[in-house]
Amino acid sequence: MNEQHLEPLKRHPEGRALCAEVDLGRIVRNLGRLRTAAAGRDIWGVVKANGYGHGAVPVGRALAEGGAHGLAVSNLEEGLELRQGGIECPILVLGGLRPEALPAASAEGLTIAVVGPEHLADYARILPQHPVALHLKLDTGMGRFGLLPSELGACMTGLQRLAPWIEGAMGHFATSDDPDQGFALRQRRTFDACLSQLSEAGIRPAQRHHGNSDACLRDLLDQDTHVRPGLALFGLTTIPEGRALGLEPALELVAEVARVKVVPAGTTVGYGRTFVAPQPMQIATLACGYADGYRRDLGNRGVVGFAGRTFPVVGRVSMDYLTVALPLDVPVAPGSPMTLFSADPAAPHSLERMAQTLATIPYELTCALHRRITRRFSV
Ligand SMILES: Cc1ncc(COP(=O)(O)O)c(C=O)c1O
Repeated sequence: MNEQHLEPLKRHPEGRALCAEVDLGRIVRNLGRLRTAAAGRDIWGVVKANGYGHGAVPVGRALAEGGAHGLAVSNLEEGLELRQGGIECPILVLGGLRPEALPAASAEGLTIAVVGPEHLADYARILPQHPVALHLKLDTGMGRFGLLPSELGACMTGLQRLAPWIEGAMGHFATSDDPDQGFALRQRRTFDACLSQLSEAGIRPAQRHHGNSDACLRDLLDQDTHVRPGLALFGLTTIPEGRALGLEPALELVAEVARVKVVPAGTTVGYGRTFVAPQPMQIATLACGYADGYRRDLGNRGVVGFAGRTFPVVGRVSMDYLTVALPLDVPVAPGSPMTLFSADPAAPHSLERMAQTLATIPYELTCALHRRITRRFSV
């Protein structure tokens, strides 16, 4: 195969027809707000999934320089991407690692979550030659990864062999966004019980962390030494406490108008003819579609910002394009910038409001933003 095909697409410097503008200064300010909310605890900044779609390396660098203790990612590849980007702070791989990948993780100085009992013996065999710091994941009620409390006893000998490398213990809340804290507090008690059991066996991790963004905002941190926020770093939240903290959304998605046409009443727009112009109007076509991560079900439901107003997305969103209807008296031309996702949390086209429209969460919208979108960073 011709190697050139494997290179990333090169963009013309002027080619910002679709651009995610990311304000790193806001992310660093959000880090400070979270540190205050978490009463000064150290922060593992969660930047998995390309920094929740914002750009893992620039965001990770900004967080590290802004004083985050470390960064957390989902898998080995994401950790390596940060290292290749020149980031030197601790990087925690949350999703665990097969034993055969330990040498690569060790070479790059990654920290690895132990997510179950299955690899303890292999880890004990490999770690003396290829050391990594370990964080024990405890399944306190999330039901995905982590050692179950019922498994701890049987695993204790295996864990004791890993003790020299165990730096942390962690859990993950299933319901920290729920105003009813009953289950979260149960998870806390389970975490404490697991830590006591480990301590009796001589395993006393220096770090303990169970809290994501909402746990910082809802004071669910108890005796934790560290926290692991993701979403709130990007200024996004699904709970009122997040807005009260003054979190600043960091991302704005902007597309330039590619074409404008004036259409008579009765004109249909797009696949399936789901929009019929009720009167003469302008239809602006933007080069952003579901392949970029703009959800198809925002067709005839989404709005975009332009010239201080919002205008409806009409017709179906297609793979590479969407269409916006504007009255005839609004001056608009090819090259006019329209805001698809606003960084103003109160705007009708903010990520949070668009997520509500779609009955989803802002995480899903930002993580879906494709790497083909130009990302422009400011501080
Ligand atoms: C293990 C773990 N910790 C922390 C986080 C960060 O959560 P949030 O973005 O809600 O702060 C996540 C995100 O999914 C996670 O999976």
